[in-house]
Amino acid sequence: MSEGRYEHILLTGGCGFIGTNFVRFVLEHRPSVRITNLDALTYSGNAESLRDLEGEPRYRFVHGDIRDRALVDGLVREVDAVVHMAAESHVDRSIQDASPFVSTNVGGTQTLLDAVRSAASDGHEVRFCYVSTDEVYGQLPLDRPDLKFTERTPLNPSSPYAASKAAGDLLCGAYRHTFGLDIVITRCSNNFGAYQFPEKVIPLFVTNLMEGEPVPLYGDGRNVRDWLHVLDHCEAVLTVLERGEAGEVYNIGGNNERSNLELTREILRIMGKGEEMIRRVPDRLGHDLRYAIDATKIKRELGWEPTRSVWPGALEETVRWYQDHEDWWRRVKSGAYREYYQRQYGNVTGA
Ligand code: NAD
Ligand code: TYD
Repeated sequence: MSEGRYEHILLTGGCGFIGTNFVRFVLEHRPSVRITNLDALTYSGNAESLRDLEGEPRYRFVHGDIRDRALVDGLVREVDAVVHMAAESHVDRSIQDASPFVSTNVGGTQTLLDAVRSAASDGHEVRFCYVSTDEVYGQLPLDRPDLKFTERTPLNPSSPYAASKAAGDLLCGAYRHTFGLDIVITRCSNNFGAYQFPEKVIPLFVTNLMEGEPVPLYGDGRNVRDWLHVLDHCEAVLTVLERGEAGEVYNIGGNNERSNLELTREILRIMGKGEEMIRRVPDRLGHDLRYAIDATKIKRELGWEPTRSVWPGALEETVRWYQDHEDWWRRVKSGAYREYYQRQYGNVTGA
């Protein structure tokens, strides 16, 4: 990738799965860019994942909440770009309790947008990239493989998580339209790769199998997801940040659709386990049948397409990462990872 035009990026949610990978990706591929990571360290934020960057002059961690207006006002004025990833991100949790989803994904996004608007009105223009999701489009039927989400597909979210992300997405559109802010939006499919919190299906299944536990497959396992390697996603977000047209939305996909049963069988094969390890469990409420992304626009207009998402190689490499980083996920699964940042940063939110 060519050198970008931003010098200092404020990343929100940088201690999460995608954020951790994004910090590393930017530091590696943009040797002169600085990155400030604002993260509240909720249950899915893990400061340990970036511990090796302590002392890196181009990286700074700020422990704080995107809903803290005074804090984000100050940070936005220090940077020339914001990449907004912080969110409550797990569909199953949103089915249990939607409140933190609405509060962070809608209210937090609004707070950031107001800070960007306020800075712009004082002459400090900041580009704002909202990392949305394909789940804002709702679901596709299983019997129409010809259908995919385009950027013009109406938003029709099904889960409380997806609805809260869609609300943030629509707020971005409204602030662009009303105040003329420099905003771009990405909507991407399911990510996989290193540092994913082991409540999401791939790290959950891999780590369960490593512990000799069965894997809980929801319903009939026919639901389809389009799997994208997290580093392909990071590259695409950086591409949109640097070269996307203000006010535009860009879909990002992996061209890699699999049913959950196919995914489970692949993981079992890679790990040398048999189908007796599959435990059929009741389906998720309102479980979306299929997501599939048409990512023609980002390829045509910005020249980006995925290169790291090809299976089985990319999945094998991801399984190996969890096998090689047993300390990391065992500390996450046991909750011990929180001790590190309790020591470093004191009490944390959202426990
Ligand atoms: P994650 O749950 O692993 O990380 C979220 C991070 O946000 C955590 O570090 C958490 O501490 C932080 N956070 C939460 N609430 C906060 C708040 N109020 N203030 C500051 N920080 C807060 O999520 P992820 O999988 O890395 O997803 C990142 C973004 O990408 C989300 O916006 C998600 O909607 C989007 N996305 C994810 C996927 C995927 O497959 N994981 C796919 C499409 C889009
Ligand atoms: P998940 O990783 O939660 O991502 P999302 O809901 O955002 O797509 O789930 C991916 C798919 O795997 C989804 O169709 C639900 C399914 N799933 C299971 O079958 N069992 C599980 O234990 C989990 C967490 C997910």
